[in-house]
Amino acid sequence: MKFKIKPEGLLERMALWLNLAPLPLVDTQVAFNAARAIMAGAELGIYEALGKNSKTVEQVIESTHTDIAATKNLLDCLVGVGYLSWKNGNYSIRPRYYKWLLKEYPSNLIGKLRFQLIEWDWMAKLEDYVRTGKPLNFHYSMRPEEWAHYQQGMRDLSVNTARELAGKLKLPGGASRMLDIGGSHGLFSIELCKKNPSLSSTILELPGAIDHASAIAAKENLTERVKYKAGNALTDDLGDQQYDLIMINNVVHHFTPAENFALAKKVARALKPGGIYAIGEFIRLETPGEGGVVGSTAGLYFSLTSSSGTWSETEMRSWQSEAGLKTTKTIGLMTLPGWKILTAVR
Ligand SMILES: C[S@@+](CC[C@H](N)C(=O)[O-])C[C@H]1O[C@@H](n2cnc3c(N)ncnc32)[C@H](O)[C@@H]1O
Repeated sequence: MKFKIKPEGLLERMALWLNLAPLPLVDTQVAFNAARAIMAGAELGIYEALGKNSKTVEQVIESTHTDIAATKNLLDCLVGVGYLSWKNGNYSIRPRYYKWLLKEYPSNLIGKLRFQLIEWDWMAKLEDYVRTGKPLNFHYSMRPEEWAHYQQGMRDLSVNTARELAGKLKLPGGASRMLDIGGSHGLFSIELCKKNPSLSSTILELPGAIDHASAIAAKENLTERVKYKAGNALTDDLGDQQYDLIMINNVVHHFTPAENFALAKKVARALKPGGIYAIGEFIRLETPGEGGVVGSTAGLYFSLTSSSGTWSETEMRSWQSEAGLKTTKTIGLMTLPGWKILTAVR
């Protein structure tokens, strides 16, 4: 998936065609102003204040308790960005954004938009990282309130994907045990357990994540069949022939190739014969020339924040096959562009 500049009117169309419009400024100043305005709307409760109604700025600030003139500036910006509409002094959310911006919808991304305020500060360290090669490794430096935002953000990213994945990932008949490495909010485990009634899941999570992650899971129809275990996938033993499925979603981008290969070997031992190792991940295309804005920007972001990055399918497949697993299906999903599940069988 790519984003593209869309001209408004003939003059802009011509300016783009003649390469007169200053594209790097549109891609940066305009993009970061718009991004921050959308995130501020989430942080300040603008979208909840509007709900599905049309409201004046005076009515909005009754809920947000923000400055009237500054709030009007933000609302006007969100109209220009296309998230809100405006008529006769009243602002409303465009209906196509209800499911993303209103908390009454399970698909809302408010937690992720708020977490992005933290990610924004991390991205501000990009030049230092490129100069020195020293990443942030945030998992080992976050404060408790940042853990809370992080886990909530991960919930928002996964809520639709977990349902789609559970429908598409076929487990061995009678599958009874799965391990969800870095399973956080638990949604992938919860949806898979709903779909497969004999299945129970253990979520292996870093100790800093457990309280916030399990509190989110408790609100998401958590079943008795999903349990948390504090630990570290890189250092813990995973056992021998224990699981029908070992799943790792959005975690291998935090680990180096050597760590991922060592993990795949532990996973291969911990799977029952016929058991599945499923890696869910943003895919980096094989060469930069192939493009892919999601995989490439995610790759840079993860290399800054975690010392690792996104991986190509070939790289991830090599960990699975060199660990003795037979690589099987690659599953693409509609709900998370640029993301795939790579399965392999013991
Ligand atoms: C990007 S989140 C992904 C959460 C969830 N799997 C998802 O896809 O929404 C990465 C998770 O992996 C956990 N994690 C990172 N390193 C880990 C490790 N060494 N062992 C276990 N969990 C780890 C983090 O605490 C975090 O919750």
